[in-house]
Amino acid sequence: MLIVQISDPHITVLGQKAYGIAPTDEYLVRCVEHINMLNPEPDLALVTGDITNEGLLESAQHASRLLSKLQCPYYIIPGNHDDRSVLRSVFGDKFCPTTDPEFIHYVIEGHDVRLIAVDSTKPGFPGGQMCESRLQWLEQQLLEETRKPTIIFMHHPPLKCGVLETDADGFDGVDELGLLIEGFSNIQAVICGHIHLPTHTRWRGTMVSTGLSTGMLLDLDLTMTRPSGFFLNASGYQLHHLTEHGNLITHTINVRENNNGPYFFEEHAISGTDSGREI
Ligand SMILES: [Fe+2]
Ligand SMILES: [Fe+2]
Repeated sequence: MLIVQISDPHITVLGQKAYGIAPTDEYLVRCVEHINMLNPEPDLALVTGDITNEGLLESAQHASRLLSKLQCPYYIIPGNHDDRSVLRSVFGDKFCPTTDPEFIHYVIEGHDVRLIAVDSTKPGFPGGQMCESRLQWLEQQLLEETRKPTIIFMHHPPLKCGVLETDADGFDGVDELGLLIEGFSNIQAVICGHIHLPTHTRWRGTMVSTGLSTGMLLDLDLTMTRPSGFFLNASGYQLHHLTEHGNLITHTINVRENNNGPYFFEEHAISGTDSGREI
C-alpha cells in the first residue's frame, strides 16, 4: 500500500504569494504532477494541514482546485493556519468525511492499514491540543480495531522536535495522548506536518514522523535562537510504503525543477570493482 502525504501547502488567494514571496500554489502544482506520475500509483493521499496560509475561503477554494487534479483519492485535516468551518464547506464529505459538529476527525477503512484522522488544532493558537472530547473519540476508534495495523495522522507532532514550532508553541494534552497511544501496539505510526521538515523519532511505543512542506522548507535552527524562517523552491512530499512484509517505509520525495540524473551505475562503471549496482 502506498500513502502519499502532502503537508503544509500554505495556499493563499489566487494571484498572491504566501508571505508575499512564496508561490505556494506553483509548488503544490509541481508536487501534484509528480504524484500523478508515480508508478505504482498511490492508493490515497493525506493532506496533513496548513492547507491554507491564512484560513480564507478563497484560499481554500484555490487549494481545492489544485488538489482536485490528484488522480488518487485524498483526505484533509486542519492545521493551525486553517479554519475548520471553511475547510468543511469547501472540501465537503468526500475529502473531509467528518461527522463531528466541531472537530475534523474520522476513520478511513477498507485498506491494508486503518487510517485515523485526528484534529490537533487549537483555534487562535499555533500549538497543538488534544482535549478530553477528542481523546475520548480517539480511544473509541482505537478500541474498535485493536489488531489491525493503524496509522494516525494529525497536523501537530506530539513531542518537542527541537525546533521553535514545537518546543515553544507546545501541545495541550500531549501527556494524555501519549498514555492513550502507548496502550495500542497496533499503531504503526503517527504522521504529522507543521514543522516543514522531514523527521522521524520513536515515541510512546510507536513512530512519529513529520513531513516536509510542499514548498516552504524550514530553516533548521537547533539553537532555537534565530528568527524562524524558510527556504523557497524546496518542493516535496512524503511517500509511506506499507510493504508486503508489514514494514512502513517512509520516503521523502524532493521534487526538483530540473533533475540532474538519474545516472545508471552500469553505464558509468569504470573498473572491475564497480559492480554496477554498488552505492
Ligand atoms: Fe505549516
Ligand atoms: Fe502548522
